[in-house]
Amino acid sequence: MSVTRRYRDAWEGFWREAPQEAGAVFWDAEPDRTVGRHLALFEPYLTDPGLPLVDLGCGNGTQTRFLADRFPRVVGADLSAAALDHARRADPAGQAMYRQLDAAERNAAQTLHAELGDANVYMRGVLHQCEPDDRQPLVDGVAALLGERGRAFLVELSEAAKSVLVGLARDPAGPPPKLAPVLRHGIAPGEVADAAVPAYLHGAGLTVLAAGELSLTTTEHTPDGTRIELPSAWWVVARAA
Ligand SMILES: C[S@@+](CC[C@H](N)C(=O)[O-])C[C@H]1O[C@@H](n2cnc3c(N)ncnc32)[C@H](O)[C@@H]1O
Repeated sequence: MSVTRRYRDAWEGFWREAPQEAGAVFWDAEPDRTVGRHLALFEPYLTDPGLPLVDLGCGNGTQTRFLADRFPRVVGADLSAAALDHARRADPAGQAMYRQLDAAERNAAQTLHAELGDANVYMRGVLHQCEPDDRQPLVDGVAALLGERGRAFLVELSEAAKSVLVGLARDPAGPPPKLAPVLRHGIAPGEVADAAVPAYLHGAGLTVLAAGELSLTTTEHTPDGTRIELPSAWWVVARAA
């Protein structure tokens, strides 16, 4: 199965209107506050750092470029062609490769695996806003990319993020400017129940090697100038023995 037309159009519309500048998108925080922290947690579990690394749901590629500075072969993959246009424009030297794919579509992940072989996967903020029917297929897609030797680092908003986001969305002064386009395009973040994630992982034949909680840094600030951070959870996973 593949994602609904509505969901695909929501992301295309969002990325078509998104500004190109760094930090203009709500979750597009500086890599040293995001993927840099994640790598410190992920790297000890990589059995083969030389495997291709897929940034799944790479968006405009901010995290992808950071990864491409550190790993020999990085592929940024996203559902949205407009997101990949941003990512390619921001990577004129072509440090990473970019690929349009729907990771919830069984053949797409299998085809990429057939091309790359076993891969490591980084996935930040993709599962939590996709539609309920897409969640298990998406995690199955991660498992297909990993094969036997790959490891994945997944980081997703926790359930608790939803009430923070609802509070921001209902602010009488209006939502923070960079959250407004997310809501306007019908992208609903923070939808996955915390308890559901281990079940998706198990369902995909994956085992959890490490897990924890970490706030997800956004690019927005409260009126007193504090950076808005959202509760999130992370997992390092591999194919179950
Ligand atoms: C919240 S953004 C996160 C982007 C990036 N990972 C980051 O942290 O900056 C979620 C991204 O996942 C992509 N996405 C959603 N569902 C997907 C799917 N089924 N397959 C591939 N990409 C998907 C969206 O197009 C969007 O660019």
